[in-house]
Amino acid sequence: MKILFLDQSGNLGGAELFLADVAKFHQERSLVGLFADGSFKQLLEKHHIPVQVLATQPINIRKYSSFISSLSSIHSLLPLIAKTTKLACNYDVIYANTQKALVVGAFASLLSHRPLVFHLHDILSPNHFSCTNRYVAVTLANRFASLVIANSKATQAAFIASGGRAELTRVIYNGFEPSKYQSQDVTPEQTRQQLGLDGQFVVGSFSRLSPWKGQHILIEALAQCPEDVTAILVGDALFGEDDYVQQLHQQVAQLRLEKRVSFLGFRADVIPLMQACDLVAHTSTAPEPFGRVIVEAMLCGRPVVAAAAGGAVELIEVGKTGLLSSPGNSQELAQIIINCQNQPERSAAIAHQAQIQASHRFELASINEQISQLICQVLQHLNIK
Ligand code: UDP
Ligand code: GLC
Repeated sequence: MKILFLDQSGNLGGAELFLADVAKFHQERSLVGLFADGSFKQLLEKHHIPVQVLATQPINIRKYSSFISSLSSIHSLLPLIAKTTKLACNYDVIYANTQKALVVGAFASLLSHRPLVFHLHDILSPNHFSCTNRYVAVTLANRFASLVIANSKATQAAFIASGGRAELTRVIYNGFEPSKYQSQDVTPEQTRQQLGLDGQFVVGSFSRLSPWKGQHILIEALAQCPEDVTAILVGDALFGEDDYVQQLHQQVAQLRLEKRVSFLGFRADVIPLMQACDLVAHTSTAPEPFGRVIVEAMLCGRPVVAAAAGGAVELIEVGKTGLLSSPGNSQELAQIIINCQNQPERSAAIAHQAQIQASHRFELASINEQISQLICQVLQHLNIK
C-alpha cells in the first residue's frame, strides 16, 4: 500500500509526532509531503522516512480566519494543489493529517482520482476554530474523504455536531511504544540533580506554551501549594504565541515564584524529564482532542492529573489510572497536587495501574495495524486493490 501523507506543519506538535510513527510503519513505499520546512522534516529524515517539502510559500489561512480572508488565500494554494496532484498519481491513497492538508488533499484527490483519508486531530468547536474553518473542514471531509479517523470520541462527536457524516468516522487513539518510556538512560535522581530539584515535589507540564494549554493555571495553583512544590514547564510556543510566553514570565515574577518555576523550552528528551517528576499536570482550559502527554506520563509510570474535558476524560479512570481537575480551576488543581504530595502510596498505585493499562491500550503496533486495515477496507471498497 503506497500512501502519500500530507501535513502542513514544519514544527513538532502532537499530530506530527503521531504521523512520524505511522509513516515509519509504511516507510518503504510512502512519502510524507509537508507544507513547511523545519524540525518535523528533520525528525523524519533522522528516521529515514521519505519526506519532501511541497510548498514554496507560507499558507496564510489561520485557525480563526474569516471567510473573506480564507478566500483571498486560496490562490496561494494552487501551485501546491498542482504539485500534490501530480505526486498523488504515484500513490494509492492520500492521507491528510491536518486541516490545510485536508484542503489540498481534497482537491488533489478529485484531480488524481485517488481516495482521501482525513485524520482529524482537532476538536471542531468555536473554542478552537472560526466558523469558516469548521465549515470548510466538514464540507470537504463530507464530500471528498472516504474515511475520517478521529483521535478520540470527543473529536468524533464534535465533527458530527458540526455537520460531519457519522458513517465516515472511526475513532483511533494515538499509539506509543511502551518500552521507550520504561527504559532509563539516566536515573530520575540524576535528572533532578542536574535541574537543581533535589528534595522538591516536582510537578511537570509537557505542552507547547499556548493560552489554551493553560500553563497559567498551573502557575496559579503552585502559588497555593507549599514552598517545596516546584514546577517544570517543558515546551515552547510553536505557533507564534510569544505574548503568552511573556505573560507567563510576568505571572511568575508577580507571584514571586522564580525559584519554583523552571521554563525548560522545547526538549527532545521528554521521557527522562517526565520520569523525574512526582506528578505530571495537563491543564488545558479548552477541551483537549486527545492529549499525548497524558498517555506518555502514564507509560513513564508517573501519576497524572488532567483537565476534565475532551479526549482527556476517555484516557483516565478517576482514582484508578489518574486524576481529573475542572478546566481552569487552579484551586482544585492545587488541592489535587497537595493530596498527591501527602499520599505518595496512593499516587504510586494509580501510576502503576495506569502504566499497565496504557501499555496495552495504546500500543503502537496494534494502532498501526488498525489504521492499515481501515485504509485497506477503503481501497477494497473502491475496488482499487
Ligand atoms: N513535547 C516534546 N517536547 C516538548 C514538549 C512537548 O517533544 O518540549 C511532545 C510531548 O511529549 C507530546 C507532544 O509534544 O508527545 C504534544 O502532544 P499533545 O498531544 O499532548 O499536544 P499538542 O501539542 O499536539 O496539542
Ligand atoms: C493534536 C491535539 C492533541 C492530540 C494530537 C495527536 O495536536 O491538539 O490533543 O493529542 O493532535 O492526536
